[in-house]
Amino acid sequence: MKRQEYTEANRKAWDEAAPYHARQNQAALLKSFAQPGYSCLDPIETEVLLELGLKGKAAAQLCCNNGRELLSLEALGAGPCAGFDISEAFIAQAEELKAAGGASCSFHCTDIYEIGPEHAGAYDLIYVTIGALCWMPDLAAFFDVASLLCKPGGHLFLYDKHPIMDMFEPGYEGEAAFTPQHSYFRETPFAEADGLDYWSGKAYAGETYYSFPHSLGTVLNAIINAGFDLRRFNEYPHDIGMAWKKYEGREAQFPLCYMVLAERRG
Ligand SMILES: C[S@@+](CC[C@H](N)C(=O)[O-])C[C@H]1O[C@@H](n2cnc3c(N)ncnc32)[C@H](O)[C@@H]1O
Repeated sequence: MKRQEYTEANRKAWDEAAPYHARQNQAALLKSFAQPGYSCLDPIETEVLLELGLKGKAAAQLCCNNGRELLSLEALGAGPCAGFDISEAFIAQAEELKAAGGASCSFHCTDIYEIGPEHAGAYDLIYVTIGALCWMPDLAAFFDVASLLCKPGGHLFLYDKHPIMDMFEPGYEGEAAFTPQHSYFRETPFAEADGLDYWSGKAYAGETYYSFPHSLGTVLNAIINAGFDLRRFNEYPHDIGMAWKKYEGREAQFPLCYMVLAERRG
């Protein structure tokens, strides 16, 4: 399949998932974002972002979903903030959350690979969080977009699930869940059609969607090759994706997530 065929299939699956997510979350999020200064970001990313300095920094989130993280970034001082996502239905939810608190972020419905040249060099911070890279059939092209959007001297902040966890099937029970099921170096996408309602954890028969495992080496090299210098790289034992809670708190602990801070070369 071509890149556009993958992203189009995934667009349909995400649009289909949007009402399921809204049923779980939207009412509570509307209440939260009506409060001035509300942020859903965890203390670890908040500390790194505040240390970087957000005041007056133009920020772009790639794969912003319902905008809750970008709205939080604005509440922490960043601005102007722009979110990009392929799902019209999630962008509509982001607009609702924005209106609840009178935020000024802009949300753009687009395939990341198709972001227009008007955004080139417009951002001090490119913000990428869990569940973005795994939808990218071409990681090098994704980070080329990040680099294109970023001002020289600006930063890329990435906080994602650790790719080693792609070796396991968290839905399996007992020891099977802790036994590697897939190669760390797998290159073929995962194809699934059981829905993307990870908030309720309930499956539904839906559109086929495709996710792409990328090793840590592939991610870091793609960042460097796109024109960024690494400034910080941390691995952590906590789950930021809900699927991996049972892998926390073990004596022989897996890395469950990681954070990269990189600076755009001048
Ligand atoms: C798991 S969600 C991101 C979640 C986000 N970290 C959060 O917690 O809100 C992944 C998002 O990527 C978007 N997406 C997937 N492929 C995309 C593409 N090619 N271009 C733009 N957005 C894409 C989906 O529409 C979805 O909203």
